[in-house]
Amino acid sequence: MLQVRELHVRYGNVRAVQGVSIEVRSGEIVVLIGANGAGKTSMLNAIAGIVRPAAGFISFQGEIITGLPAHRVIDRGIVQVPEGRLIFTGLTVRENLRLGAYRVKERGDPAQAMEQALHNFAELRPRLDEPASALSGGQQQMLAIARGLMARPRLLLLDEPSLGLAPRAVQAVFRLVRTLRGEGITVLLVEQNVRQALQIADRGYVLEGGTVILSGTGRALLAHDLLVSSYLGITQHGKGQS
Ligand SMILES: Nc1ncnc2c1ncn2[C@@H]1O[C@H](COP(=O)(O)OP(=O)(O)OP(=O)(O)O)[C@@H](O)[C@H]1O
Ligand SMILES: [Mg+2]
Repeated sequence: MLQVRELHVRYGNVRAVQGVSIEVRSGEIVVLIGANGAGKTSMLNAIAGIVRPAAGFISFQGEIITGLPAHRVIDRGIVQVPEGRLIFTGLTVRENLRLGAYRVKERGDPAQAMEQALHNFAELRPRLDEPASALSGGQQQMLAIARGLMARPRLLLLDEPSLGLAPRAVQAVFRLVRTLRGEGITVLLVEQNVRQALQIADRGYVLEGGTVILSGTGRALLAHDLLVSSYLGITQHGKGQS
């Protein structure tokens, strides 16, 4: 479904991504893992058309999309939920959701799109006319994902959706990702919550310094020595254990 070949992303002299190749097949959950600064967000931004790659190519459903502007990428069915959620806290929940549909107005009824987007978000429905600032962190993340769904993605790019959330909200995010996959949405997930991400992922890639140092099935990566020592060993002391 998505193929990224030999991708390079640079910011001036900073080489954020250096020749990364990844693949996401239809119906998969694929996770990108890596320390701060490894290049994870740069990968998603390049796929979403937010940054223009310095080299390499990206194809989606058999068509090259490298260098397309972000709104054209959304039109093809790739929607990114950015790092840090970027909810408009001064707007209501409903207004935030409507912003997610701005590209698809011509394709259908926004009210219907909202119904469709909300069916996995029972907690948001009674709060549609409240300001987004009244929501908890977990609910704001749910709103950010629901807003992304308003554009009816085929491929959803999620950048650290569990960051900063309480353990229960983290669980809810991972449960939602599985539900969405069950509804036919393919997911490319960036996560630092490595254990839980690998438990729901079909496959994963580990980035370090802008290159892929390891890849495999979620199960294989969970058992891999390098991950156990450098990522999973640390999270074992955390309280998010399931
Ligand atoms: N707009 C920018 N201008 C200059 N350098 C940048 C910019 N964005 C990212 N970088 C640098 O590129 C590298 C990769 O950053 P990126 O945000 O892709 O990493 P990341 O894996 O998402 O990290 P994090 O876990 O902190 O979100 C880092 O060295 C970062 O400092
Ligand atoms: Mg990032």
